[in-house]
Amino acid sequence: MGRIKGKHHPRKGKINLHRIVQFRGHSGCNIELLTNGAKRFVRKISFDKTYNERLRRQGDVLRQLSQIRNNLFRVPEIYNEGYMHGKYFYDMQFIGNTQNAFFYLENCHPNEAISFCDKVFDIIKLFSINRSERSNLFLANFQKLNDLSHKIKKLNFKDLTKCIEYLISDIKRIEQLSELEQTLSHGDLTLDNILIDTNHEIWLVDSLDNDSPHYFYDIAKLYQDLEGHWGYLYNFIPFNPISNVALCHELLTEKIRKTFKLYSKYHYYFLGLTFLRIVPYVLRSPILEPVKERALRFLDNFMKGAEL
Ligand SMILES: Nc1ncnc2c1ncn2[C@@H]1O[C@H](COP(=O)(O)OP(=O)(O)O)[C@@H](O)[C@H]1O
Ligand SMILES: [Mg+2]
Repeated sequence: MGRIKGKHHPRKGKINLHRIVQFRGHSGCNIELLTNGAKRFVRKISFDKTYNERLRRQGDVLRQLSQIRNNLFRVPEIYNEGYMHGKYFYDMQFIGNTQNAFFYLENCHPNEAISFCDKVFDIIKLFSINRSERSNLFLANFQKLNDLSHKIKKLNFKDLTKCIEYLISDIKRIEQLSELEQTLSHGDLTLDNILIDTNHEIWLVDSLDNDSPHYFYDIAKLYQDLEGHWGYLYNFIPFNPISNVALCHELLTEKIRKTFKLYSKYHYYFLGLTFLRIVPYVLRSPILEPVKERALRFLDNFMKGAEL
């Protein structure tokens, strides 16, 4: 716990902020639970100035999601935003007594896991019906693939580079994605961005803005954990094949196959990209090899025509 001296609050002038807890995330942003007298809130401060715009747009997506009337999920209210030493921050409602969905599933009763799956599936369905203008998921993906290809090439990972180049040369395979419309999307729907409170209510945090938002990305992010076992990898816990995560994998797959046939066709493409995107962030980590292995395995599955 520490006192943050003499910060100037954008609206209220000088105030006394006390830090209670520092949270850990993946982005490198500073996320802390602060008090200002009786009021508690979470402040998320940009990792550095180059991240400002991304974090600002994250706030926009959270606000957009909070406008959706539903009884499936909630979003922390954003109270305030501003800049500190040139770094953007936003202040949001603190959701107390929560666990992220990975640890929730590790600890809960299988019946609760089943009900969690049902809700998550309904959230995806809700996102999928909120359509707006035409998206060009094909172009957006082609761009992403090219950007990633440059990054990976520089890293000299030969097998991954070869795999991406092969994908780019056969880009016609994802052409069908140019016919999709934009939908609502959280953008980074991994299990650790889903918080569950003591009433088993779902809270979504840490969204990601995308020029072509689409619920396909959300499904793929869920599979980052369900099939890619990201939570186990990241937390150095061995995967347990009779866990609730495995149960959710089975249940969600059954529902998604039936309802989102087009997604199923592109599943390994999106899942491969999800792991590919992680590669540059884990270069000095012991999980680099397993992350590379997953990116390669899933993209390879796609190239061989495997579906969900
Ligand atoms: N409003 C909130 N209330 C309670 N806990 C939060 C809140 N926002 C974030 N957290 C906690 O902090 C963690 C990291 O926050 P997140 O926004 O996901 O950061 P990152 O972008 O770095 O992954 C979350 O997984 C969650 O445990
Ligand atoms: Mg996060």
